[in-house]
This record gives sequence, structure tokens and C-alpha cells, in this order.
Amino acid sequence: MSKILYNGEIKSRDDVSIDLEDRAYQFGDGIYEVIGVYNGKFFKMPQHLERLERSASELKLTLPYNICELGEKLQELCVANHLQNGTVYLQISRGVAKRAHYFPRNNAEPVLIGYTQKREHPVSLHKEGVNCILTEDIRWLRCDIKTLNLLGSVLAKQEAVEKDCYEAILHRDGIVTEGSSTNLFIVKDSELFTHPANNYILNGITRNTVIDLCEKLNLRITEEAFDTQQLLDADEVFICSTFSDIIPVKKIDDVDIGSIPGPVTAQLQQELKRLTDSGETIKL
Ligand code: PDD
Repeated sequence: MSKILYNGEIKSRDDVSIDLEDRAYQFGDGIYEVIGVYNGKFFKMPQHLERLERSASELKLTLPYNICELGEKLQELCVANHLQNGTVYLQISRGVAKRAHYFPRNNAEPVLIGYTQKREHPVSLHKEGVNCILTEDIRWLRCDIKTLNLLGSVLAKQEAVEKDCYEAILHRDGIVTEGSSTNLFIVKDSELFTHPANNYILNGITRNTVIDLCEKLNLRITEEAFDTQQLLDADEVFICSTFSDIIPVKKIDDVDIGSIPGPVTAQLQQELKRLTDSGETIKL
């Protein structure tokens, strides 16, 4: 039985129960991170923990540990579970309190849980690409905060799955934002475009890695919004996220997007793999 992290302690899953008045359960009032582990190494752990700190601050939620301590506890969890390849899920809720929408008056203790998931890389998807749908972005206006409130994303992803697609690409009034659980890039005439990191998207760790790689490879990259027509006219389209890495998009609704993976996408995939293979080591 794999171990979990519960309020700072490593425990067996069976020894932990979640209170029915946990605000995460009743309001989605909490934050989370998903961190990739590749060949026993964390990928960009400090960046994930800094984003967590920002999410907490935007929701006026006090983290129960500083991010250094959190990093150490996640490392302990991975060691306890002998995690080689997969993800670590970390969630912090505002805590347990009598149900009322406003924050608990006598400062509830935040509830922290973490667990690991063994996963294989979607290598075939990296090569063959995926089909996507295009759908309206009905999420709230603070998509930059990684909160547990994910219903807009859940409904979009479900719509994609019902149409035998892998991801839902979201747009607001014709402006493409991101995927339901991924960031999105297009390539046109060898130049890359992605939505700027503002309140309409999650500022993905993989997204920022791709931008850094573009700079390193002298690829032109512009963080600028584009519309659905530019998306469908792109030479290459790819989505990216933790552990999915970079996945080329081959079809959006009924529109075929060039060859898979396109040359720019393939180059970035290769460079990202090099990076993920050389992350911060978990001391096993
Ligand atoms: N999702 N955009 C959204 C809306 C996301 O939910 C995610 C990640 C990303 C990519 O972010 P990153 O590169 O930091 O993983 C972009 C995670 C993996 C999830 O909810 O499971």
C-alpha cells in the first residue's frame, strides 16, 4: 500500500480520513500542484512550489509549511513510495469549519495531503499526436490560480472525451486561451505564439520551460493572444503540461493540422526530454 503525506506526516492511506466539513470538499476552497518525477528526479520542483505559494497568497490562505520544508516532505514521500516515474499530487485546503461561505473566523488549520502516482510517459502520443475539440472557455476570471475549483475544465474535458478527443482547446469570444488541463502553442511560418500569462490562463511550468527552450534554440516566440482562425490555420499546434510533456495536435474538430510532429514541435520535444532527464535528484 502506498504512503501518503497528511499534515506533514507520512502515513498509510487507510489511516487517514477527510472531514465532511473540509472546505476543499464543500467549496473547492484550496490549492494544488502536480509535480513530475522522471527517472527518480523531480522536474522544476522550486518553480512548482513558488507557484503554490503564489496561489496561496492570492486566496489569502496561509501555507502550513514554508516551501523548503514542503519540498523536503515531498521528497520523503517519493522515497517512501520508491517513485521512479510519475507525479506527486499536493493539495492544501483552507481547513475544516462549520459550513459557511466566508473564511472560518477562528482561522481553521489548513489540511495538507500529498500522494504519488506511478505513470508511464505517453510516448505514443508524443509521436502520433492527438485530436482535440474547440469549445467555449466558461471558467472564472482567475485561471492563473491553481485552485481545486476545476468544474469549467472538467466539463470541457468531458465534452472532448465524449467526442473521442484527448483535449478541449478553450476560447473566449474567439480568442484561444489554453487547453482544459494544458497550455497551448501554435507555430506559423517558424514563429511560435502562446497566450500571455495573465488571469485567463494557468502559467504552466512546462509552458515556461518551452519558452526558455525557444530562446535557447533561437526560435522566435511571441506571448500574444490569437484567434480560433489563426489556430486552425497554424502549421503546427501542440499542447503541454507536467508529465504529458509536449503533445502535437493533429486535428481540431474536423480540421487537419499539418504533419505530426511538425519540425519545431519535434525539436522542442527532444530538448524537453533532455531537460526532464536531468532534473533534481531524489536521494533514494
Ligand atoms: N494541469 N493549464 C491548465 C488549465 C492546467 O490545469 C495545467 C496543468 C497546465 C499545465 O501546467 P504545468 O505545465 O505546470 O503542469 C496548463 C495539471 C497537470 C492537472 O491539473 O492535473
